[in-house]
Amino acid sequence: MKILVTGGTGYIGSHTVVELQKKGFEVIIVDNLSNSYANVVDQIEQISGIRPAFEELDLTNTEKTNDFFNHHFDLKGIIHFAAFKAVGESVNDPLMYYRNNIGSLVNILENMKIHKIENLVFSSSCTVYGQPEILPVKEDSPILKALSPYGNTKQISEEVITETSQVSHIKAILLRYFNPIGAHESALIGELPLGIPNNLVPFITQTAIGLREQLSVFGSDYNTPDGTAIRDYIHVVDLAQAHVVAIERMIGNKGKKDVEIFNLGTGNGFSVLEVINSFEKVSHVKLNYKIVDRRAGDIEIVYADTTYANDELGWKAKKTLDEMMLSSWNWEKALAEKK
Ligand code: UFG
Repeated sequence: MKILVTGGTGYIGSHTVVELQKKGFEVIIVDNLSNSYANVVDQIEQISGIRPAFEELDLTNTEKTNDFFNHHFDLKGIIHFAAFKAVGESVNDPLMYYRNNIGSLVNILENMKIHKIENLVFSSSCTVYGQPEILPVKEDSPILKALSPYGNTKQISEEVITETSQVSHIKAILLRYFNPIGAHESALIGELPLGIPNNLVPFITQTAIGLREQLSVFGSDYNTPDGTAIRDYIHVVDLAQAHVVAIERMIGNKGKKDVEIFNLGTGNGFSVLEVINSFEKVSHVKLNYKIVDRRAGDIEIVYADTTYANDELGWKAKKTLDEMMLSSWNWEKALAEKK
């Protein structure tokens, strides 16, 4: 049962490799290390006792990708994480995002066709919903115009996969992630943001550990109970486990359609201030933060309707917000100790 995990040294990828190994899958990772480090493979081995195969590969390089697949065609499935994911960066350099996120997907799908590889699990995002009119958001909610080139690459990728599936043997599960946070309980793997973090939780933990002066809370005039924006935060290990369930569903031919879509969230919305309170409670650290203006392009409130994923996949996110924040904090402290 060999599975290719693209982006397998990255944040969600590395946690998924560990969960796949736990279930007895043999894993090959490819990653171009543009936003991750090769030693993540060592950390994975330390957690699971099994060293995953690893090849450094840029999936936008068609020749090298074809060559890789010529040597590794006996795959039961592919979980495709490898992509750029910074919203702001994508606004400044859209072409970089289209080339990377769409180009790599096309190369993978072409090789799936050639080598008769059937099953693809794809990392999509709740960003495809924009600001939904009805909450919680269901999988059949309308896809609104993307607010960034990054978001657009996720919408386009979903279309590319669906259209390709209609004219080939390829089947796919598109997983729409809400806000993944937290880290593995071993604190050996977690999120490693390059430079100044864009996302809330790494910014909180870096501020608390003293790497950043102050957290800016973007906006307190939203139409929410405390005025700050609301998201559906999900623990990365819960998210990783959903990928294993998805690939097992495909291998076992249990899917209802050739392309299935699932929301991966907890179904609970938390405001920025609630996240900060949870952090302060579990870490016993008082966070230095200040309310500032809204961040351009942010939506007010989004959280998932997880009924379909829970019922169909038999999967449910288990970790509470406090558990998520504690694991993020333990990871940040482990990083600080290594320095
Ligand atoms: N926030 C702050 N201060 C910060 C960072 C974030 O107040 O320093 C707030 C944001 O305004 C937002 C919330 O915290 O209200 C969460 O922000 P994140 O940047 O952590 O996450 P987003 O919801 O903006 O973005 C995430 C992913 C994107 C994805 C998007 C889909 O990071 O990749 O969800 O909605 F596109």
